[in-house]
Amino acid sequence: MGAKSLRVAVVGATGAVGNMMIQVLEERAFPVGSIRLLASARSVGKHLPYKGKPIAVEELREDSFTGLDLALFSAGGGVSRKFAPLAAEAGCTVVDNSSAFRMDPKIPLVVPEVNPQALENHPGIIANPNCSTIQMVVALKPIYDAVGIKRIVVTTFQAVSGTGKRAIEELRQQISDLQEGKDIVKNVYPYQIAYNCFPHIGAFLDSGYTEEEMKMVNETQKIFSDPAIRVSATTVRIPVYYGHSEAVNIETRLPITPQKARELLAVAPGIRVVDDVGRFLYPMPIDAAGRDETLVGRIRQDMSVENGLVMWVVADNIRKGAATNAVQIAECLVDRGQL
Ligand SMILES: NC(=O)c1ccc[n+]([C@@H]2O[C@H](COP(=O)([O-])OP(=O)(O)OC[C@H]3O[C@@H](n4cnc5c(N)ncnc54)[C@H](OP(=O)(O)O)[C@@H]3O)[C@@H](O)[C@H]2O)c1
Repeated sequence: MGAKSLRVAVVGATGAVGNMMIQVLEERAFPVGSIRLLASARSVGKHLPYKGKPIAVEELREDSFTGLDLALFSAGGGVSRKFAPLAAEAGCTVVDNSSAFRMDPKIPLVVPEVNPQALENHPGIIANPNCSTIQMVVALKPIYDAVGIKRIVVTTFQAVSGTGKRAIEELRQQISDLQEGKDIVKNVYPYQIAYNCFPHIGAFLDSGYTEEEMKMVNETQKIFSDPAIRVSATTVRIPVYYGHSEAVNIETRLPITPQKARELLAVAPGIRVVDDVGRFLYPMPIDAAGRDETLVGRIRQDMSVENGLVMWVVADNIRKGAATNAVQIAECLVDRGQL
């Protein structure tokens, strides 16, 4: 990146993802000339640190984007639908973390390790994919390029931070209440999440799949520009704070050995292979939390099908699954002279 200096806003700055966006902008030395932190009226009066200085949180308003170059949105689909087009009209490029525009054919859906070329001719808004999709496509890209992928069957084990700051607090509170013998309170999830798990993320659709499961299907096809890839997902919420895990089973077009897959993954950007079962080494959320790489392990042949591979993929959902991917998209725009 050059010595540019950009006027940046973080929308949803007080949230789980927004807070991390501020941190990641700082860590990666993104060329921030000035920063505005925007949230709801509830947060006016709060301050959040950027480079050691407290920055006042402002209420998001229709005219918030005048004079800005870049806005990273993570305040939910409704806020994005209303404010992202206003920002783009004001000449401020939007990277949006919500699902509002992901399947809009005019809006690129980008994972920089996989499809940076999709940024060409963007209309002022770029969508950041769903957290579970991002880590899966990062892990599958080197294999897709080498031997093609016909079909993916994936089961996810998703951390509560994927639901935002209130869900993190709900898990903490339930663990504490149960330890003290008190009744638990459920505000965010339909069931107790402490010491439990449920195969229910997003609303159920008529097909029997959930919205989260269909995001993994539709977004994977869009990111690979390959509507022929067949995907079936089961998404499960588990009582982990940070880091989504995925059991990913793929059927490739051409044969590939687990060793060849390991070699391809080992040199691919954004991936760390953690795969030595002899030493009990495999990816875990506690190792992925706080890191930007997608960890891949348990790579083995699927014995039930001709060209099949199975792997275990883990990443920090708030970082690579959201904030880091969004900042990487902005870095790509700078590198390509689009910002
Ligand atoms: N968590 C993840 O792993 C993840 C991953 C990918 C994408 N996302 C997406 O990112 C978005 C935020 O997720 P999160 O997990 O960070 O949620 P969160 O922790 O609940 O934070 C929500 C943020 O949105 C702000 N907000 C809510 N309503 C607003 C309004 N009317 N006007 C302005 N700001 C408003 C909140 O501000 P106040 O504090 O003032 O209420 C807060 O800053 C969602 O669209 C989510 O789908 C999340």
